[in-house]
Amino acid sequence: MDRPLTIIANWKMHKTRLQAQEFMQSLQKCLVCDHLNVLIAAPYTVIETCIALGIPGVKVGAQNVSEHRSGPYTGEISAEMLADVKASFCLVGHSERRILFHETSEQIAKKILRLVEAGIQPILCVGETFEQRQAGLTEQVLFSQIETALCSLSLQDIGKICLSYEPVWAIGSGVAASAEILQLVHGSCRDFLRKRWGQDISDQVKILYGGSVTSHTIAQIISQNDVDGVLIGGASLDVHMFANIIKISGELKL
Ligand code: PGA
Repeated sequence: MDRPLTIIANWKMHKTRLQAQEFMQSLQKCLVCDHLNVLIAAPYTVIETCIALGIPGVKVGAQNVSEHRSGPYTGEISAEMLADVKASFCLVGHSERRILFHETSEQIAKKILRLVEAGIQPILCVGETFEQRQAGLTEQVLFSQIETALCSLSLQDIGKICLSYEPVWAIGSGVAASAEILQLVHGSCRDFLRKRWGQDISDQVKILYGGSVTSHTIAQIISQNDVDGVLIGGASLDVHMFANIIKISGELKL
């Protein structure tokens, strides 16, 4: 099954409007691959700035959304508001949200529903902690995160979801998951999707990897079966580093 490679920059809480504009202008100059999907998960305040530059082939989205449609939720941003600024996707369930902001799987499931209603693609992040891996619980944790997040969606909507496997121990640690781990985990997630929702869903859903991806690790990561792309934090902040990762990926996946 041909699933075009997806490269997502997750800027987290970085970049002012000017910095975002400079990044996008430089990216446009050095972007050479038109057969990859390039996505920028931007802070809310720069989404419109990035979209306004209109770089062909680059989609702009958000890093979080409220699980509520509207109401007295000070500081929250709804899916409808994201659609209004033309965000095309949104990260959900990143471990920094689960751990630092105590988001539960149930909230994550609601956020996905809100995004689907608003026509925005959810990128569902799942991942185990170091302790869970040591205890042999990786698959159990991932399958349960996927199940709770997706169980109330229609098959058609599940097919539009993109998963990102992000082991908590690899995020920002400088140590990406090994090729062996990626083979095993991505393969078993795909297998879980097949057993739970059928062959078509397991063929359609992209499974990305996130956690200390750099220009040094990208080639090995995307060479693994069932790795359909990457989500990049730290190394996506510098436009030259990010463009280099795109270039290497594009050459490998011609
Ligand atoms: P990192 O972040 O690339 O800085 O490890 C990845 C992520 O947040 O998924």
